[in-house]
Amino acid sequence: MRFHILTLFPDMVMNSLHTSVIGRAVERELIEINAVNIRDYTQDKHGKVDDYTYGGGAGMLLQAQPVFDAHQAVTGSRKVRTVYVTPQGVPFTQKLAMELAKEEELLFLCGHYEGIDERALEEIVTDHVSIGDYVLTGGELPAMVMVDAISRLVPGVLGNEVSADTESFHNDLLEYPQYSRPEEWHGKKVPEVLLSGDRKKIAEWRLEQAKERTRRVRPDLFKKYLQKEKVLEMLFKQKRNNIHLIETLSRGTGEILYAEGESLLIYNRACDIVLLTAENMEHGEKMISLIPETCELAVTSQSFLNDLLLDKRGFQVCQECNQVCYTPREPLPVRHKDIRMLTRDEFSYVAEHYALGDPDSVKERIDAKAMYGAFVEGRIVGFAGIHEDGSMGMLYVDEKYRCQGIGAALESYIINRERESGHTPYAHIIVGNEESLRLQEKLGLYQAKQNIWWLVKKACISLQSVLNS
Ligand code: ADE
Repeated sequence: MRFHILTLFPDMVMNSLHTSVIGRAVERELIEINAVNIRDYTQDKHGKVDDYTYGGGAGMLLQAQPVFDAHQAVTGSRKVRTVYVTPQGVPFTQKLAMELAKEEELLFLCGHYEGIDERALEEIVTDHVSIGDYVLTGGELPAMVMVDAISRLVPGVLGNEVSADTESFHNDLLEYPQYSRPEEWHGKKVPEVLLSGDRKKIAEWRLEQAKERTRRVRPDLFKKYLQKEKVLEMLFKQKRNNIHLIETLSRGTGEILYAEGESLLIYNRACDIVLLTAENMEHGEKMISLIPETCELAVTSQSFLNDLLLDKRGFQVCQECNQVCYTPREPLPVRHKDIRMLTRDEFSYVAEHYALGDPDSVKERIDAKAMYGAFVEGRIVGFAGIHEDGSMGMLYVDEKYRCQGIGAALESYIINRERESGHTPYAHIIVGNEESLRLQEKLGLYQAKQNIWWLVKKACISLQSVLNS
């Protein structure tokens, strides 16, 4: 991932971001940090970049020309998501960090003095983001905060992938207290349960501690957590029909935008998809008005929502799908020896054979460690993976190797891995794909009674990257 930071103080940024975890990630070329001095782009012969504000007011303003030219020099003809760090922005949260971590390239624009001429901002900025309700002397510290929070989500940066997943905020709860050696220090003992070796009891204790701490310190977060628990309880009453909603919420990627009775609107910010289920038209209409403007993909559980989405928001049905999920407790046997996680080495094979995927999303899935391949004598002969929304799919096997159980082995392998991560594996099968449905049944996946629909706002192109074949 490449970060560009446009600033008047490039040394400040470079010095800080070249130490510890982020510094090592730079050395290992997992991320690249490019600090650009805005002053290098001024056309003023004295190197001036700021001036007084029209209409009066204290302080100086960064002028449009050097900011715009620096931006042009960095981005050229590429469209790069450009974040202006400002107290006037939307709050920077873990969810936004997750969303920004999906980009291959990000640009941070740091203001200083009183800010930046609005005309330059209008032309180059895609996001205005604040790190909190206080005012700093410049945007460098906020930009560094964001680069740090985003970098640790880039695969490989933390080394231990688990820690990015389970820490504070991923589940609307703060982290539980932790202890290391010695067992007793200053007369204080490590809680008994942590020494018991009983994983279940430890998990329960940690959850209770996390809840108690969140309730005390962050009542706002705790309210969200309780709402989510209540919604999940409702969804579990029809687990198979609601599996996509349940998994989106329990994996921490979904935000509840509307919940009333059995109606629910979830926004998966990480992949810009909304999921809707509604018990009546009135709720449906309310939910549809809440769908974020940027969102181009929707999944519905009732067909009347499709008409509303078309009329009011211009979404069109692209696919009707059966939902299947794997709920047995036992793992599945994997009847193929060589199945492993794919790397960029296999990118061209996947891009060539996965008819529905655009190359960028294939790359993104491989980098996210979400693609697996079956190999015969060291050569890849098929693959499958997990879509950005969490569902399994993208199954492909070379013609020569079909009907030999390789597809089943790939899916079984993924199901086992998903279960180990605490997820319920699920997939969306396009209605009419009887061959796939037979495979699901053979593996022991249950089919939901209700179908779901995928809808897309413009051309079907972006949908193709997330749909199952
Ligand atoms: N620049 C100055 N203060 C800031 C803040 N709180 N967040 C983002 N950018 C800033």
